[in-house]
Amino acid sequence: MSNYHIKHLEEYYQVYRKSVREPENFWAEVAEEHFIWRKKWNNVLSWDFRKPEIKWFEGAKLNITENCIDRHLRTKGDKTAIIFEPNNPDEVAQYITYNDLYDRVCKMANVLKEQGVKKGDRVCIYLPMIPELAVSLLACARIGAIHSVVFAGFSSKALATRINDSECKFVIASDGSYRGSKSIDLKGIVDEALEQCPCVQTVLVVKRVHSEVTMKAGRDIWLQPLLDNASGDCVPEIMDAEDPLFILYTSGSTGKPKGMVHTTAGYMVYTAYTFKNVFQYKDDDVYWCTADIGWITGHSYIVYGPLANGATTVMFEGVPHYPDFGRFWQIVDKHKINQFYTAPTAIRALAKQNISFAEAQDLSSLRVLGSVGEPINEEAWHWYNDIIGKKKSPIVDTWWQTETGGIMITPIPFVTPTKPTYATLPFIGIQPALMDENGEEIKGNQVDGRLCIKFPWPSIARTIWGDHQRYKDTYFSAFDNKYFTGDGALRDEVGYYRITGRVDDVIIVSGHNLGTAPIEDAINEHPAVAESAIVGFPHDIKGNALYGYVILKETGEGRDHNNLRNEINQIITEHVGPIAKLDKIQFTSGLPKTRSGKIMRRILRKIACKDINNLGDTSTLLNPEVVQEIIDNAL
Ligand code: PRX
Repeated sequence: MSNYHIKHLEEYYQVYRKSVREPENFWAEVAEEHFIWRKKWNNVLSWDFRKPEIKWFEGAKLNITENCIDRHLRTKGDKTAIIFEPNNPDEVAQYITYNDLYDRVCKMANVLKEQGVKKGDRVCIYLPMIPELAVSLLACARIGAIHSVVFAGFSSKALATRINDSECKFVIASDGSYRGSKSIDLKGIVDEALEQCPCVQTVLVVKRVHSEVTMKAGRDIWLQPLLDNASGDCVPEIMDAEDPLFILYTSGSTGKPKGMVHTTAGYMVYTAYTFKNVFQYKDDDVYWCTADIGWITGHSYIVYGPLANGATTVMFEGVPHYPDFGRFWQIVDKHKINQFYTAPTAIRALAKQNISFAEAQDLSSLRVLGSVGEPINEEAWHWYNDIIGKKKSPIVDTWWQTETGGIMITPIPFVTPTKPTYATLPFIGIQPALMDENGEEIKGNQVDGRLCIKFPWPSIARTIWGDHQRYKDTYFSAFDNKYFTGDGALRDEVGYYRITGRVDDVIIVSGHNLGTAPIEDAINEHPAVAESAIVGFPHDIKGNALYGYVILKETGEGRDHNNLRNEINQIITEHVGPIAKLDKIQFTSGLPKTRSGKIMRRILRKIACKDINNLGDTSTLLNPEVVQEIIDNAL
C-alpha cells in the first residue's frame, strides 16, 4: 500500500526514506493505486542527468483528463470542480460541477478538432482568469494538443516571441479582460502580436468584456457559436506517458525565454500527490490558489493537481485591491475557503493595509495557508500567521520552480513543525544537495551553498522546446550529475532549508521571474541609449524592484531625464510587459567592466542596495574610476 496521505512526522520520515531507497517501487505504488491507466508502464524510471534524459512510467498509456474529470463523474458528478469568482463582486459566481466541466471540456475539445487541431499541435492560450482558460487547457489535453499558456499581462512582443518559438498554429484569446476598475484590450494585443506570427492560422475568441474588436476574416472566429453546436462528448486521445502535455515559458538569465516542456504521466502523478499532502486536502474542502493560470503555480495547483484529486478549486479573475483591500478576505468568507495559497508580494501589500479589512470577515474556515514564488520575509510570515491564520493554520512555504513542475521543499501542514522564512524539509522523493563553488557537495547542517537536486522526480521538465542543448547547459552543466536550480540555500541545525534567492541574473519582482537580458535588450532599443544594465534592489512590497543604469548616446545627452525615463519604461512595457518597468533609472557615463568586457553586476547591485562600504576589489576593472561616479549619482 502506498502512503498517499501523510498524517504525522514519523510517517513522513518513513515514507521519505522509502522514496529515496526505492524510488521506483514507491512511485509505482502511488501511480498504480491512485490513477487510471489505459495501459501500465514497462519501466518506472530511466534517467541520465549527464545526457540529460529522464523518462517516467515509460510505455504507459493514459489521458490526464480522464484522471482529472471522467473518473470523478460516477461519485462526484454534482460536486463543484471549479468556483469562478469574477472581478466584479456584484457579478454572480459560477459553480462548475464535474459534470459541467466534462461537458464544457468535451465541447471545447470538439471545437478544436473541427478547426483542425491535431495531436502534438501547439495551441497558444492567451486568456484572463475566466473558466474558458481552465477549460482550454483541459480541452487541449483531451485531444493530445500541447498547450502553451501565455500570461495575459504580457505584451504583444512577448506574446509573439512565445507563439513563434513553439510555432503555434492556433490561438485562444478573448476580446478583453477585467482588471479591477480597468478593462484591457487583449484582442488588440493579440492582433499586434500576430503581425509577427505567420504560423498562426486560427484565433478563437471568447467574449468577456463585450468590447468592439476587429475580427480578421479567415482567421478570427467567435468561440461561443462553435461551442453551442459542438457535441458534449469527446473520446480522449490516448497518450504515451512521455508525450508533452504543455510548454510554459520562463525567463532565463540570458537570451529568449525558455519553453519548458512538461510531459504527461509523471507530471500528473507528482502534482496530484503533492497537492493532496501539501494542502492536506479533504473531500469537502474548498481550496483557493490566487495565482494566475499563466504561471506554473496555476497549471499545477489550480488546474491539474486539484482536479486529479476531485477537489473544489477557486479561480479568481480579479486583483487583491478591487473594489478594496478586503477582497481576498471577502472571498475567503464567501466561499468558506479551507486552503489559501498566495505569494509573499500579495501578503506584504495586504499587511500594509488597515487590519479592519481582514477583521471584518470571518476567516475561521481557513485551515492551511500557503506561500510561493519568492522568499517570504519574517514580518510578512508573522502577519500571515497571526492575523490571517490566527496562529492555528500552519503556513506552508513551498519552494519550487516552473522547471520542477511541482512543489519540492515544503512543510506538510500538521506534520512538519514550521519555522518562519524556512521552506523546511524536502518533499517525498526529493533529494536536495548544497554545493560549494568547487563543485563539491557540502554535507552536514548549518551550511549554505548552491541548491541542486541529485535524483529525478516525476514532474521535472524534460527539455526546453527546440533547444535541448540549452536545457543541458542551464540545468545540468554547473554541477556534475545534478540538476542545478539557480538558487542559493542554507540548511539549519535540524536540516531545514531556507532559500536565500537567485544566484544568477534572474530577478524576482512581485513573484515574477524576470531575466535581465530581455529587459536590457528592450532599453537598448531606445534611440538615445547606448548601453544598459539592470539589477534588483529590495522593495517593501514587491520583494525586489528593478534599478537600471543607462549610458546615453551623444544624441541623448542634454535631453530631459524624466522624459527619457518615461520613454524607457514605455519601451519595456511594449517589449516585456508592465511588470518589468524600472523603479529607478540612473544615467551614467560608463558601467564597471572586467577586462574581458563583462559588466560587474555585483558592484552595481551593491550600489543599488546602498551597500557601498564593501564593494570588494575594484582595481582589476577596466574602468575603476566610473564606480565613484555611479556612487555619487546613485538614486
Ligand atoms: O528563486 C526561487 C523562487 O522562484 C523561482 C522559481 O520561479 P518560477 O519558475 O516563476 O516559479 C514560481 C512558482 C513555483 C525559484 O528558483 N521561489 C519560488 N518559491 C519560493 C522561492 N524562493 C523562496 N521561497 C519560496 N517558497
